[in-house]
Amino acid sequence: MEIKYLGHSAFLVKGENIKALIDPFINGNASNNLKSTDFKDITHIFVTHGHGDHIGDTIEIAKRCNSKIICNFEMGYYFDKFELNVHTMHIGGRVKFDFGKVKMTPALHGSGIFYNGEMIDGGNPCGFVIEVQNKKIYHAGDTGLTMDMKLLRDEKIDIALLPIGGNYTMDIDDAVLACGFIEPKKVIPMHYNTFDIIKADPNEFKRKVEKSEVIVAKVNENITV
Ligand code: NI
Ligand code: MN
Repeated sequence: MEIKYLGHSAFLVKGENIKALIDPFINGNASNNLKSTDFKDITHIFVTHGHGDHIGDTIEIAKRCNSKIICNFEMGYYFDKFELNVHTMHIGGRVKFDFGKVKMTPALHGSGIFYNGEMIDGGNPCGFVIEVQNKKIYHAGDTGLTMDMKLLRDEKIDIALLPIGGNYTMDIDDAVLACGFIEPKKVIPMHYNTFDIIKADPNEFKRKVEKSEVIVAKVNENITV
């Protein structure tokens, strides 16, 4: 299974029966030079919450590729307005797809969606544990540090994708604590340096994490899990 970092909290996941995007903020994302139309044949799109830097180009890509959007029930109602292919689930739920199992995990954050000049309800923000070819990825979404992350240790996470930018999410020190809770084999820091208010040094995070291997991924770099 392969992961590609696309800047901010966006990732491409490729494996058997899956070519998925997570939080596909592509167009207008200052941390990459990519276009949403660069992505073809996307089978699934995971969306952690309703904020614009996470929904990103979900609608354009899902429409063009007929991708299945995996998100919470409330966001599913929003995506239904655009006649998209949606699979809704909720916090704590696990389900089997043909590529492997997905569990929706809690996140401490907001999930409002801007629509027609108003903020509409996007339900609970979340993260995902995505299993592909017996490897487990944990994408935390936007979240503060939570005690619930201790439960993820038993999941035996191969690679964790954790926000480190602070202000809206965990900062470096809290993300280091999260690593201690989760004990992933590898970790990729995300959600930093896209905007001034989330400036953070991923190498400081790398120095501070003790047990997990930290990969400071470059945009478009392929990482084999
Ligand atoms: Ni957010
Ligand atoms: Mn965000």
